[in-house]
Amino acid sequence: MGDRVNRVRGVRDILPEETHLWRFVEWIVHAVMSTYGYQEIRTPVFELTELFERGIGLETDIVNKEMYTFTDKGGKSLTLRPELTAPVIRAYIQNHLDRDTPITRLYYMDSLYRQERPQKGRLRQFSQFGVEAIGSPHAEQDVEVIALAYDLCSLFESQGLSVRLNTIGSPEVRGDYLQRLRKAFEPYAGELGELDQQRVKNNPLRLFDSKNPETQALLDQHAPLISDYISDEDRLHFEEVMAGLEALGIPFEHDAKLVRGLDYYTRTTFEVTSEQLGAQDALCGGGRYDGLVAQLGGPDTPAVGFAAGLERLLLVAEDRLKEKLSPRQLDVYLVVLTDEARIPALSCAQQLRTAGYTVVLETLRRSARSQLREANRSGARAAVILGEEEVKKEICTVKRMDTGEQVEVPLTQLADRFDDIFPKD
Ligand code: HAM
Repeated sequence: MGDRVNRVRGVRDILPEETHLWRFVEWIVHAVMSTYGYQEIRTPVFELTELFERGIGLETDIVNKEMYTFTDKGGKSLTLRPELTAPVIRAYIQNHLDRDTPITRLYYMDSLYRQERPQKGRLRQFSQFGVEAIGSPHAEQDVEVIALAYDLCSLFESQGLSVRLNTIGSPEVRGDYLQRLRKAFEPYAGELGELDQQRVKNNPLRLFDSKNPETQALLDQHAPLISDYISDEDRLHFEEVMAGLEALGIPFEHDAKLVRGLDYYTRTTFEVTSEQLGAQDALCGGGRYDGLVAQLGGPDTPAVGFAAGLERLLLVAEDRLKEKLSPRQLDVYLVVLTDEARIPALSCAQQLRTAGYTVVLETLRRSARSQLREANRSGARAAVILGEEEVKKEICTVKRMDTGEQVEVPLTQLADRFDDIFPKD
């Protein structure tokens, strides 16, 4: 036997005992997205590296440290998508999705790749669902996106959810704020790690992403708050967003330090967090990004969106979902007792499957006893038995596993008779 090959660090296998939970969550997401009028988009797993460098920002942790980047045989630098906003905007521009409508509402559900330090709720391959609403600059669009994120999270987690909300203003006023933030940190430059020193120099807003507790303490003590520097229009927009959320009864708190770890945001930023998650507590995050479409070569178009982590959502909802949902039950275990029964058994299985029943057929040629034990273990509602007698008489024996009762059924009528014995619910 050769050496075992294990999966790589930070990824996981989703096993048959869990896949039905995933399918349920995915089904709910598709259903809720369509009630809000969003349409699904699917983009490639890899893109030109430049898309993420330009879209997310060179100083961000994602681009700086976490991308899976490789050179293909043609010498191009490609990257496995670490997020979906930049790819979706790339697809929006390239496919002229703005052609027929001034507003485009898109959603996605796909896997992403970030080389982060793995821990609970933080993986190197993970899945997100999210939306991008492209076209409206107005606060009701932000409210719709936040409400959609909150609605979806609350369907799976009824308690301990909070919405943290902030505004980081429009880019025109950001320059002044960044100057002040840089100034506030200059006296402490010596106390900072190398990465944070670089952040002070190149993009001081990214200091808020620092994992260094000393930097965070300095921010608490010395950083000016961005909400003190925003324009009147930014403030009005923020007030309208808050009024909309209040009207919908969505509880939120203003978190003046929430800048989020991607460079494209303008004005609104938000996260939905769960008490149950511990250190990685964000179920989802998003915000407005009015400059990204133009920055990626499209027409000047405002946009807002969010993305939620499916693994994190399942971490909080898994136990409750497991109680409610069971994997689809097997209807029939087909017991095959003789060589002559093998072909008729294949036809029986086909007849039942065409009628919508789930059927498993014996392929190990085991003894009658083992096959019936297997039928029991499998949880099937019935064993359909085909032996010498049955083949001769062109019938099969249907045994109910709950009562042990047996009836003989002509082979040609199996599916119809099955409907009588086990009415479909
Ligand atoms: P993000 O905050 O980087 O935002 O990711 C959104 C969510 O994805 C997080 O709140 C978390 O639930 C999940 N997530 C992120 N990293 C991991 C990981 N390593 N393992 C497991 N789950 C993770 C974005 O990606 C933006 N594109 C969101 C957005 C859309 N903004 C506007 N539109």
